[in-house]
Amino acid sequence: MKLLVTGGAGFIGSAFVRRRLAQTADEIVVLDKLTYSGNRANLAEVEANPDLSGRMRFVLGDIADAGLVEPLVAQVDGVVNFAAESHVDRSILDAQAFLHTGVIGVHVLLEAVRSADRPVRFVQVSTDEVYGAMEQGLSTEGDRLAPRSPYAAAKACGELLVNAFRTTHDLDVVMTRGANTYGPYQHPEKLIPLFITNAMDDQQLPLYGDGLQTRDWMFVDDHADGIGFVLDHGLAGEAYNLAAGQLRTNRAVTEAILAGLDKPWELVRRVPDRPGHDRRYAMDGAKVDALGWQPTIAFDDGLRRTLEWYATRSDWWRRLKSGEWDAYYRTQYGTRLADSVSA
Ligand code: NAD
Ligand code: DAU
Repeated sequence: MKLLVTGGAGFIGSAFVRRRLAQTADEIVVLDKLTYSGNRANLAEVEANPDLSGRMRFVLGDIADAGLVEPLVAQVDGVVNFAAESHVDRSILDAQAFLHTGVIGVHVLLEAVRSADRPVRFVQVSTDEVYGAMEQGLSTEGDRLAPRSPYAAAKACGELLVNAFRTTHDLDVVMTRGANTYGPYQHPEKLIPLFITNAMDDQQLPLYGDGLQTRDWMFVDDHADGIGFVLDHGLAGEAYNLAAGQLRTNRAVTEAILAGLDKPWELVRRVPDRPGHDRRYAMDGAKVDALGWQPTIAFDDGLRRTLEWYATRSDWWRRLKSGEWDAYYRTQYGTRLADSVSA
């Protein structure tokens, strides 16, 4: 297949590109705007490998730029849309970029698929956050969308547009709703890499509220492979939960990180909670399981691999914890840490 992978220089998108090129004979065009979270270094392993590099081309640009997007979509068999603003806390500070990419950008991609003169399959990479908080039980694909953060609302808007283009224009679309993902190349703004890299530097770990919020943790290779599976086998018009079945409280995740690094709990600070913080996400993965896909990596194994990667790649994450990072960190955590108590 020829694929257009948008957001392919980000965390999960770059894992998809690395793995898909290694596992198949596909050719991939990566379209990425290189926002603060996009990083050409995430594709360096591909560019350094002569068996893979000839089948990948990088294009710098915005998915909301119709003039750029249409000719790229016209040349491919499939579009896998990873592009998004992905951090909930930043959407609480300012949601505009989330709507630009998650709504206008998705619309531009769908119009390009519609105007292509060949069949193009469209994969929308979505999230368990579109269901909103799931206090108990498991979300299934037929549940209503009830997003609660600006990030999740933008992702749900994207899904609604994809469904509308399926209903109205009969496009070949599929959607994935992935669980919380962690692993190599994740930007250090997110919980697991933030706490790993702060702990490595003996810096405080800002745990929101009581730390008993629960997430389902999926290793990035599993998430990338699940999306590839849905691209290849998903039924048109369907959404698929990609669940990990690895529920942990944030407190338990923090304890595991500190144990893996042999660092003391005293680094952890209880800070004021995230506004509108979803208490729990948990999905039922039976639908994609019935089609033939299951995740393979248990949390303890995935976390060990992640800790090893961050230990050896401080060149990668220290660059991201500089420049724009200081202002972001002050805005997000300055007052919170000043008001913090022991956890
Ligand atoms: P990320 O922030 O690491 O990567 C996003 C990428 O999109 C970056 O490379 C960025 O430069 C690019 N991008 C942003 N706006 C763009 C635009 N307008 N045009 C072109 N490129 C643009 O995010 P991630 O964690 O890899 O998430 C990828 C996708 O997976 C997102 O759609 C996210 O909603 C979804 N998702 C993430 C998780 C998770 O836990 N990280 C879980 C479920 C679903
Ligand atoms: O569930 C899927 C989603 O997972 C994806 O759609 C998002 O793109 C991704 O960012 C992630 O969202 P979360 O908000 O769950 O991830 P984050 O790493 O920001 O936070 C995980 C949990 O840890 C959450 O309960 C908030 C908490 N947290 C986070 C940070 C950054 C803290 O307690 N302290 C922190 O400093």
